[in-house]
Amino acid sequence: MSSDPLEFIACDALGAGEAQTIAASLAAGDPWRTLGYGADALARGLQLTHPDLTRYLAVRNGAIQGLVVIRHPWLRGAYIELFAVLPGAQGQGVGRAVLTFIERTYRGRTSNLWLLVSGFNSGARAFYEKQGFRPVGLLTDLVIAGQDEVLMRKVIQAHPTPSRRTPSASPAEQGD
Ligand SMILES: CC(C)(COP(=O)(O)OP(=O)(O)OC[C@H]1O[C@@H](n2cnc3c(N)ncnc32)[C@H](O)[C@@H]1OP(=O)(O)O)[C@@H](O)C(=O)NCCC(=O)NCCS
Repeated sequence: MSSDPLEFIACDALGAGEAQTIAASLAAGDPWRTLGYGADALARGLQLTHPDLTRYLAVRNGAIQGLVVIRHPWLRGAYIELFAVLPGAQGQGVGRAVLTFIERTYRGRTSNLWLLVSGFNSGARAFYEKQGFRPVGLLTDLVIAGQDEVLMRKVIQAHPTPSRRTPSASPAEQGD
């Protein structure tokens, strides 16, 4: 494992070249291969901009090691819409460092981190459990027929216990 520092770069969208290189790498492996995501569709998604989406690149010595896409606000939290460490950088602590960075970035702004992981992706499920995520629901046939997606949650900021419930929250409060 390299001792050179990992940097985190926030961007709204990736440039076409970067998006295509990363998308080709992701589409060749699971879970995207089994779920039928092609490189072109992934590349298009990485170039889309949306006010609720932020991409963070994990970079070491100028080379991209991993990518995380966050949708915030989402269900009183931030939703990890895509999470990947590139094949050559896996198993070296990059994924853990990325999640630690995301948790630090969103704690104080919101209460939960959420993600979906495919039921067959046992390696990623073990990884997320080690980082404190817990399965809270099973969504059958969500992406393709015959495959379950597991909804996982990590509480990053507990609510104080209220003495009395407020009768209603505004839509903005419900989202975040
Ligand atoms: C899953 C993934 C994000 C993990 O990132 P990583 O950089 O390889 O993981 P790390 O090296 O940071 O590992 C952190 C811990 O998780 C454990 N872990 C990582 N991958 C694991 C696996 N496949 N099976 C079991 N444990 C695993 C490590 O052993 C380590 O444990 P430790 O804290 O006891 O030492 C990465 O392998 C990946 O991108 N995989 C392909 C794409 C994918 O599945 N993305 C998730 C889609 S929801």
